[in-house]
Amino acid sequence: MKKINANELRNMWFEFYKSKGHALISSASLIPENDPTVLFTTAGMHPLVPYLLGQKHPQGTRLADVQKCVRTGDIEEVGDASHLTFFEMLGNWSLGDYFKEEQIAWSYEFLTSEKYLGINPDELSVTVFEGDEDCPRDEESAKYWEKAGLPRERIYFLPKKHNWWGPAGLTGPCGPDTEMFVDTGKPKCSPECSPACSCGKFLEIWNDVFMQYNKTAEGKYEPLTQKNVDTGMGLERTIKTMQGVSSVYETDLFAPIIGKIEELTGAKYGADDKTTKAIRVIADHVRTAVMIIGDDRGVVCSNVDQGYILRRLLRRAIRFIKQLGGGMGLLSQIAKVIISEYKDVYPELDRNADRVITEIDSEEARFEKTINAGMKRFTAIKEHMVGDTIAGNTAFKLYDTFGFPIEMTVELATEAGLKVDIDGFNKAFEEHMAKSRAGAEQKFKCGLADSGEQTVKLHTATHLLHASLKKVLGDDSISQKGSNITEERLRFDFNFPRPMTKDEIKSVEDMINEVIASKTPVTCEEMTLEEAKEAGAEAHFESRYGERVKVYTMGEFSKEVCGGPHVENTGDLGHFRITKEQSSSAGIRRIKAILE
Ligand code: ALA
Repeated sequence: MKKINANELRNMWFEFYKSKGHALISSASLIPENDPTVLFTTAGMHPLVPYLLGQKHPQGTRLADVQKCVRTGDIEEVGDASHLTFFEMLGNWSLGDYFKEEQIAWSYEFLTSEKYLGINPDELSVTVFEGDEDCPRDEESAKYWEKAGLPRERIYFLPKKHNWWGPAGLTGPCGPDTEMFVDTGKPKCSPECSPACSCGKFLEIWNDVFMQYNKTAEGKYEPLTQKNVDTGMGLERTIKTMQGVSSVYETDLFAPIIGKIEELTGAKYGADDKTTKAIRVIADHVRTAVMIIGDDRGVVCSNVDQGYILRRLLRRAIRFIKQLGGGMGLLSQIAKVIISEYKDVYPELDRNADRVITEIDSEEARFEKTINAGMKRFTAIKEHMVGDTIAGNTAFKLYDTFGFPIEMTVELATEAGLKVDIDGFNKAFEEHMAKSRAGAEQKFKCGLADSGEQTVKLHTATHLLHASLKKVLGDDSISQKGSNITEERLRFDFNFPRPMTKDEIKSVEDMINEVIASKTPVTCEEMTLEEAKEAGAEAHFESRYGERVKVYTMGEFSKEVCGGPHVENTGDLGHFRITKEQSSSAGIRRIKAILE
């Protein structure tokens, strides 16, 4: 196999899809914009949902990108050979353009051609959907794989659990997928061993989703008028396979990061399982934290939503640094290496480097204080104890309220000759997770940005709010630091150093209600990002590929690059009212507002 590195793979991907007539688009932000349904971008398709549902994309019907993704569902698993909380997904899309035949032929070409990955075709296996009472067996995909050159015996038919992509149990676009696996050379674990098996013989590197159904609220699968292709190839996994190493952490991507951790802590990767795990966790978590803070819509630590996940990542990394015997101030040194490794691919990391370093150092200092407060609390618990076992709920409270890691509670307890009810802790923890999962699922609503009437109105109002804040506060450096819209309200975060006065809040409301009363048309034009900036449009991202974007204009009042959708006239909005203005984090204010 060719030993290609991450950069070579990204470039190959772009070159290949350019040659197939695709427009290259920049990675969208890791923090979804105007989408209350998920905390982070979890797949390349996520920012493209409106276009998968039929909106016209300004770049056309064939798109390719490398998308930054964060998935933190398995955060506790990080430390093994494969789990990562941040990864890059290489993706390509057909928006009602080509379908199975072209995509499968291209997948085969990209995987096996000497010009691209050059994988030996004998080492490839694929899976396709076996069919069930809802949707037929995907013989079509199997036929195209055979046509491309794959023998029938390496095409496996599997059920929905394996070969279906889309909103499980929910509504929205979905369809069968075909997944591509590389044989790792390990022996079969049993005669039935197949890509469905997790023994490690077959490693999945790519997934082509054929979105051809819309699942209705009644649970019916209706054929979609616009059939799409959505593919995703994991960058880290693919280079791991190509480089023939046994873990993603042993690829060129992680070498400088792990080298730095070794240098700073004196620990040696591979010395023993515990050390290796600690180094992996630190490398993964700091990398993800750098990406979250360094994003142009980056967030800082807090106790809710994205800020909470960020905090957990950093605190977990600090804990493992301590385990390796490292002191304070090391995380930001590791972060500097990550920024310099990734800044050519994601220039925003360079632009936002100061913020990344400052935030990481501040969180470390805050955690230190928390630990000290937790220690006091622990001493109080110890003094008031009956018996010799700290209750599970008490340990969980220490963890949940003080961010006090359970390992630390156990350590301190052991020193004091006490035990901790770990089962009870796990139970409390599970209950907490189940609650937050239920919340997240409710939020997720099949990963689709809600584009109901009221949400669209609030989205338009968000643009008016953004423009009027600049005007009323007289500060042109004000920009959007976060936005979250539900049917009931909008929430808008922006940089401003102090609380707004009552008069300022009233002026903003009045100004917006005037624009609403003036019934200004909302117009949309397509242009390149450079043209949009020249025209004075507000834009939250940089263009790397000269891509075309949509610019929404409301008279002289507001001009912003945005994917939409919006109402046609500000007169449709109703009465605008700010319900809350508060601090969100250092230097960031948060406004909640409604339309009445
Ligand atoms: N959306 C598909 C995935 O994430 C390609 O696997």
